[in-house]
Amino acid sequence: MSAREQRVAVVTGAASGIGRATALRLADTGYDLAVLDIDADGLARTCAEIEKAGGTARAFPVDLRDPDAVGSVTREVAVTLGTPALLVNVAGTGLAATVLETSDEDWDRVLSVNLTGPFLTTRAMLPLMLDNGGGVVVNVASVAGQVGLARRAAYCASKAGLVGLTRAIAVDHAKDGIRCVAVCPGTVATEWIDKIVANAPDPLAARQAMTARQLDGRLGSPEEIAATIAFVAGPDGRFINGAALIVDGGLTAA
Ligand SMILES: NC(=O)c1ccc[n+]([C@@H]2O[C@H](COP(=O)([O-])OP(=O)(O)OC[C@H]3O[C@@H](n4cnc5c(N)ncnc54)[C@H](O)[C@@H]3O)[C@@H](O)[C@H]2O)c1
Repeated sequence: MSAREQRVAVVTGAASGIGRATALRLADTGYDLAVLDIDADGLARTCAEIEKAGGTARAFPVDLRDPDAVGSVTREVAVTLGTPALLVNVAGTGLAATVLETSDEDWDRVLSVNLTGPFLTTRAMLPLMLDNGGGVVVNVASVAGQVGLARRAAYCASKAGLVGLTRAIAVDHAKDGIRCVAVCPGTVATEWIDKIVANAPDPLAARQAMTARQLDGRLGSPEEIAATIAFVAGPDGRFINGAALIVDGGLTAA
């Protein structure tokens, strides 16, 4: 790819898990990467991996809940790398609790990271994409945005909200050359899942239960979700708009 054709992708949550795998995959397909996360050390590791493989990546440590910080990072990305052609909202947080067990603080934390964060990045970056004639936004939601999961009240609400936001952005901006798609993973083997398992009363039983509910008999890999995102964002995905694509090894089929 020549310098004139260079495209810029922004990936949030890129310090770890699905976000890191997505940044690596997109760099491999020829994007210059702006990686955003609250974890500056993790971002530095992701950038080092991309650069070692011959790609270009810049780290932008940011708390995605902060509208002013998201605005400044957007300006920095545009000045340093150029206008984003692709925004992938991956950053997220979880909570194992029913409605009755959810405090005001936890509700706000989950909703602000999982729903307000993608709203803020999209609102900040969409005008740049529109000036550039179009772009793609991919929101990483979850099967929890499609079905109810036990003791995940705030998480399910945030991810269902993100699917709704995705459809609304697609409807409003298809005419402007914007596509917006939600990717809804099932259980994916990341640091997040490792922490849930480690904190369970019986970690071995918890991991076995997660694997047992998979039709494929295994958890997904971050690379499989990254490959789906790259497909959705790329030219072969150009007829996919406003959709919520379930990638869960059959978890929700049963
Ligand atoms: N792992 C799974 O099984 C699974 C399943 C379905 C959906 N998801 C979704 O995929 C996304 C990534 O999950 P993962 O498993 O890779 O988790 P992860 O914990 O490995 O990565 C999440 C990243 O988001 C970042 N982050 C959290 N709050 C932030 C904030 N306020 N500002 C900036 N960055 C912030 C974290 O620092 C972390 O690097 C999440 O949105 C999650 O809901 C994960």
